[in-house]
Amino acid sequence: MYAAVTSDEDNKADGLFSSLNGRPMKDREKLKKEIRVLLKERDAIMLAHNYQRDEIQEIADVTGDSLALSQTAAESPKKVIVFCGVHFMAESAAILSPQKTVILPRMDAGCPMAEMITPEDLIKEKEKRPGVPVVAYVNTSAAVKALSDICCTSANAVSVVNSLPEESVYMIPDKNLSHYVSLTAKKKMEWWNGFCPTHERLRPAEVIKAKEKNPGAVFVCHPECNPEVVKLADHVCSTSGMYKYAKKTEARTIIVGTEEGILYKLRKENPDKNFILPSRSLICPNMKLTALEDVFEALTEMKNIVTVPEDVRSKAKATLDRMLKVPRDF
Ligand code: 13P
Ligand code: SF4
Repeated sequence: MYAAVTSDEDNKADGLFSSLNGRPMKDREKLKKEIRVLLKERDAIMLAHNYQRDEIQEIADVTGDSLALSQTAAESPKKVIVFCGVHFMAESAAILSPQKTVILPRMDAGCPMAEMITPEDLIKEKEKRPGVPVVAYVNTSAAVKALSDICCTSANAVSVVNSLPEESVYMIPDKNLSHYVSLTAKKKMEWWNGFCPTHERLRPAEVIKAKEKNPGAVFVCHPECNPEVVKLADHVCSTSGMYKYAKKTEARTIIVGTEEGILYKLRKENPDKNFILPSRSLICPNMKLTALEDVFEALTEMKNIVTVPEDVRSKAKATLDRMLKVPRDF
């Protein structure tokens, strides 16, 4: 059976060392306790995306997918939000809650897919399609959101597209998510040609091989995977959708087509089931940058604060608010 990268402790430690940039590695348990004390002192909530390192997920107040985390960020009464994820996620929190201080512990944690479309690109595409609404995946910059009509995440994309009264829709930036939505949405759709480098690396042959080695296993994947991979899936959903699916399925072995951080909670919540990553390449280097040391330093110094200029923020907020009124697909 294929051994997931996450089970290789040496690789994991190597990854952690490189993300420490020469800083000494501190005692993990002591550091976790110190962070929890600091969170209380600062009236802060710690949010972590489902792809974060295990040790980050372990001490976060809330873990979740992009949709759940933006909802939590909008609703939390805390003064400070420490967002362990990538830049567009913290930016969305800053857009939704301008009165709060939003910290991204690693300012260099970006999302390459979000950088694949600029405001200038989008202006040109809109000019070609007057009157066609733009659906922006949350994996976009605030400036791109400000030019869009409504946001979506992987958890509500089909419902968001179907909620629009227009017959045609232009979706950005992920060609794979857009293609997946176009399979069921009752709309004429066009889209931008962006993609997630991590999910795009997963090959159909790797999934087929994992299925052959594990007869009876089911395959669940994220809609950011290539359509050829999606075709092989028993279920396609957001990262949080995978937790629900894993609990519900009667299969004992589940092949998982998304970033390896998902395994932490899948294994914790389903100790009797076996989870397999079909490829060693399912690691998002940006999601893995944040170490406990970064959270501790950012909170101690109250640094790495994400802000959005007010003219952009108010427009981007309207785009996010429209999305938050639409229910989840799953
Ligand atoms: P989710 O919204 O499904 O958590 O996905 C976020 C993401 O960046 C996937 O690559
Ligand atoms: Fe961006 Fe892909 Fe990383 Fe998600 S997994 S943050 S889409 S690069």
